Amino acid sequence: MKRITTVAELRQLVNAARSEGKKVGLVPTMGALHVGHISLVERCVAENDVTVVSVFVNPTQFNDKRDLELYPRTPEADCAMLEKAGCTYVFTPSVEEVYPEPDTRVFELGTVAEVMEGRFRPGHFNGVAQIVSKLFDMVAPHRAYFGEKDFQQIAVIRAMAAQLQFDIDIVACPIVREEDGLALSSRNTRLTAEQRRNAPRIAETLFASLEYAKTHTVAETINFVVDTINAVPEMKVEYYEIVDGISLLPVEDWNKSNFVVGCITVYNGEVRLIDNIAYCRP
Ligand code: PAF
Repeated sequence: MKRITTVAELRQLVNAARSEGKKVGLVPTMGALHVGHISLVERCVAENDVTVVSVFVNPTQFNDKRDLELYPRTPEADCAMLEKAGCTYVFTPSVEEVYPEPDTRVFELGTVAEVMEGRFRPGHFNGVAQIVSKLFDMVAPHRAYFGEKDFQQIAVIRAMAAQLQFDIDIVACPIVREEDGLALSSRNTRLTAEQRRNAPRIAETLFASLEYAKTHTVAETINFVVDTINAVPEMKVEYYEIVDGISLLPVEDWNKSNFVVGCITVYNGEVRLIDNIAYCRP
């Protein structure tokens, strides 16, 4: 595995690989890697000749300065995990290398970027679109891999890629969970022991809601999830929405869509956790 810090070297190496007819896959990350990220890297390695993993804590997608400061950074451990997983190039640029000039682009990506996280984290998806479009331009991969834990993010990235006409296959990979059900997240390391003990209640409630939904309406199911999780010490649901898996617009009736996903954000103490579950898929 080679570590790259400049855009020029990254472009040169991936261009060389592409001109030899090699397939290039990209896994964008913000580091603090865990088994969930590694599952994306392993899939990328299995499906491509060259795997590029970017490790970059992107400042433009943090609408909360404190969240940016507290975001975990573990570069040495990340590189060791990536090497083991078969990564070809790890790209670890500085902020100045990625943003030599402030990125003033404002993306208009429609409702997929405006609902849910778009409402609660203004500017977040614009920052994601900025960095991912830059990475797509620098690497020009054949495929790019993203985890379904950030369900809405994938829809936003698809919208950005369509708008900018990137010919890249966006591959959505399933959520990886701890044995107790908690969705893997770099933010989990910030939980206190007590918060970590309670955290699996989020997934447990989402899974219980699959059964509950069979005999209840969408509105009743939302209330069931919100009330159950809010009853857990230190937990506060920011939103729970049951939406169409493509448009991300709320679904009012189970029969109105063949792809129905529940998306949740919960504050567990100070730590903001997200998760989602599919009630049905095409
Ligand atoms: O999902 C993430 O870790 C980030 O939002 C991403 C896609 C790497 C962009 O910074």
